[in-house]
Amino acid sequence: MNELSKVEATTETTPEPVVIPVEAYISEDYARAERDKLWRKCWLQAGRVEDLPEVGSYITYEILDDSVLIVRVAEGEAANGADGKIKAYRNVCTHRGRRLVDTPKGERNAHGKRMNFVCGFHAWTFELDGKASYIQSKEDWGPKLCDDVTRLGEVNIDTWGGFVWINLDPDAEPLRDYLEPAATMLDPFQLQNMRPRWRNWTVFDCNWKVALEAFNETYHVPGTHPEFTEFGDFTGWGRPQGKHSHIGYDTGEGPKENASKLRLGAGDPRTTTAMMQKYTWEGVNTNTTKTLVDVAQTLPEVLPEGTSAAEVLRYWLETSRKIDAERGVVWPEVDPAHVAASGTSWQIFPNQQIGHAVNNMLCYQARPYGCDPDKCIFEVAVYELYPEGEEADTQWQYADPADFPHVLLQDFSNMAAVQKGMKMGSYAGNVPNPKAEGAVISLHRNLARYMGTGDPKDL
Ligand code: FES
Ligand SMILES: [Fe+2]
Repeated sequence: MNELSKVEATTETTPEPVVIPVEAYISEDYARAERDKLWRKCWLQAGRVEDLPEVGSYITYEILDDSVLIVRVAEGEAANGADGKIKAYRNVCTHRGRRLVDTPKGERNAHGKRMNFVCGFHAWTFELDGKASYIQSKEDWGPKLCDDVTRLGEVNIDTWGGFVWINLDPDAEPLRDYLEPAATMLDPFQLQNMRPRWRNWTVFDCNWKVALEAFNETYHVPGTHPEFTEFGDFTGWGRPQGKHSHIGYDTGEGPKENASKLRLGAGDPRTTTAMMQKYTWEGVNTNTTKTLVDVAQTLPEVLPEGTSAAEVLRYWLETSRKIDAERGVVWPEVDPAHVAASGTSWQIFPNQQIGHAVNNMLCYQARPYGCDPDKCIFEVAVYELYPEGEEADTQWQYADPADFPHVLLQDFSNMAAVQKGMKMGSYAGNVPNPKAEGAVISLHRNLARYMGTGDPKDL
């Protein structure tokens, strides 16, 4: 097992104030070193189990120079390397190194269904189990060209939360160990039952960490999304959790179990909740569902004036839960104390964020775009629960940054500007708010362990 798999002690406490050097964001050497020290060492979220519905279904996953071919090789719901239902291979032909499955131009990854894979160069053919089944003039090599030489190289694969994860390190620790404590905290939300409502990817002119860090704190809400402050208070916290971290809202008074996750509108909670839900649905199309939005619109009519925020929240959620149950969408029951402890989203080291809830989730991922520290691939995926058989049929769509919902555009507007600003010769480094931006500090502490450089310094 690799050295780095030792998880630092989980801490619930607010980190000390630090300065984060800008090397991790802007250095070309650092970006190049990430390939071997980070991307080839970590478990990476490569797709969803539902992307592989049938035997022969495949997807590819690209991370810098590496491409992984992920294939369903046998029937069954359960999917992990151990039982062989889904396998992952190095996406390279063992003959003379041609990429075996090409990603169509303009697409995020290859996907489809095939019962074998034929190399485009000399037509060597590989079965779903990775074995070469056709080699032109095989006898010319004699017996030395054995199965060990010709079969596709395997890559570690496992599943959790309905996601397919790969790890290019042969000595990788088990996925579950890697994901803790996030996996245990998120299990009750049954993320594996959710399906995508939409999923878009794009390319930004900033480092992948700048893109992720635009979403792992709520400290930016008053500055970036000032209109939201009319709906409520978005003051929040970010806490290291071993390799990972999580964020949430300050609860203050009121119904704590949901307040760390859901923001009710300020003022008359009936009307501001209705307004905020409508604005969120139309402005960003994340973090809520049609049922929640529709029920929120009825709050000013069905609840009398003066209804407390706690009662508005209780009525809104209970009614939505009931309406959804009637159409076959059953929200998992999660202990309120657990909901409170889990916060609003988890940052899974190094490059994923899962904004969880009982009936929807919002996921962000960022990956480098080549070794250019100033560019990244950014992905947004929104999931929810569907009645069985009525799941939306979505694929990854490229979207120009300008075509995203306008609240996200507000976030995007900072990214290239941050990347530029940090390059200023005299810039001393980032000083994140230790309470509200603790997830940023956690990311860089853990990155420094993998990269051997870039450790945050005491302020
Ligand atoms: S490189 Fe694949 S068959 Fe030759
Ligand atoms: Fe934002």
